[in-house]
Order: sequence, then structure tokens, then C-alpha cells
Amino acid sequence: MGNKIAPSILAADYAHFAEELHRIEETGAEYVHIDLMDGQFVPNISFGADVVASMRKHSKLVFDCHLMVVDPERYVEALAQAGADIMTIHVEATRHIHGALQKIKKAGMKAGVVINPGTPVAMLEPVLDLVDQVLIMTVNPGFGGQAFIPETLDKVRRVAALRKERNLSFDIEVDGGIDHETIKLAKAAGANVFVAGSYVFKGDLNAQVARLREALHD
Ligand code: DX5
Ligand code: ZN
Repeated sequence: MGNKIAPSILAADYAHFAEELHRIEETGAEYVHIDLMDGQFVPNISFGADVVASMRKHSKLVFDCHLMVVDPERYVEALAQAGADIMTIHVEATRHIHGALQKIKKAGMKAGVVINPGTPVAMLEPVLDLVDQVLIMTVNPGFGGQAFIPETLDKVRRVAALRKERNLSFDIEVDGGIDHETIKLAKAAGANVFVAGSYVFKGDLNAQVARLREALHD
């Protein structure tokens, strides 16, 4: 499982998605992380599948879609049509996590499952064999620019141990408060996909992504 950096478009300039996607592509990042928020599951509203479809016309990057919406299974077809590659859904957002993940796979996307900082790993244990990616939120979802919650690292370690125990091969992603210091902690705990929003967009994008990569090699 190679390391992957996933700049979050949430921290970009929404009036210039095409340019921002192009800039992300030029950093050599493996993924672009796309946060869909409905104002219900989280207090913030970002954008939906139609915007993802428009983005697809301007980019060949892997679209790593993180759904912070209630009943995400409602958007499986729309996101598949929009050209999403990975669809990651919260166990807290649906009564049917198993069925919803099956639906995502059937639609031809990679399936991811995610838990909030206050949700235990036990909630995703029954679906680990179904997923391509497990996302451990390292902040409470809804907004960029929040401080990393160190207690979440225990869950990264626990998921990595379960993966080994069960001989599985999903990626482990972390999202929220990732910078050149916290990325090292997350990597050491077992994560290999690193979402970063405010940290990479706050300065020169190329330089900030390069700093993250250097931190991974330290
Ligand atoms: C938060 C989102 C994140 C966000 C991370 O709800 O899921 O993807 O963009 O932003 P930073 O890196 O600024 O914490
Ligand atoms: Zn996210």
C-alpha cells in the first residue's frame, strides 16, 4: 500500500474549480479529495454530484469523494455517473451501511467507510471485508482548518491491526488537521492516504505538497 496525498478541494477557490484541479494535478498528488456536505449530517453545505460531474470534465485525477450527507446511498448512481472513483460514506449517516457499500461497488466505484472521532472502530468491523478504503476522521467533519485530534490515532492503529489479522488490503486514510507534523504521526499509526486542505492551500500548493511528501520520508 503506497502513500497517497489527497489535497482537499474544500480549501480551494470554488469560483475556479478547473484551475484549482489543474494546480492539484501539477503537484503530482495521487488523489483529489472532494467533500460533499448537505447541511444535515454536518452543519456546512458544500456541493453535490452535479458539481463533481462538472469537475470531471477538467481533470483525470482520482476523485476521492467523502460524503457528509444523510442516507448517502441515495447518491450512488449520481456519483458514479459523475465520474467519481472512490465513494466514502459515514457509518453514522445510514441505517444500512452494508447494503450501501454493496451498492457502491455494484455501481463500479471503490467503496470507502468512515467514522467520526466519537465513533468506535467496532462500528466498521462488520464491513471491513467489503471496503477498498477506511477513513478515520481526525477532526469532527464539516469544516476545514480544525486542529488534529491525537486520540483518533488509536483507531488508526486498531484498524491497521484488524487488517493484518484478517489478511485484508484496504487503504487507511486520515482527514482533518493534517500538516507536516501530524502526517508523521498518522503514518506511524498505519495510515497511507493523507487528506490535506488548509495546510496545502495556505501557501504555495506545490511547495506544501512537497513538504508533506518529505515528512513521509523522514
Ligand atoms: C472536513 C473535511 C476535510 C477538510 C480537511 O470535514 O472532511 O476533508 O477539507 O481540511 P483540513 O485539512 O484543513 O483540516
Ligand atoms: Zn473530507
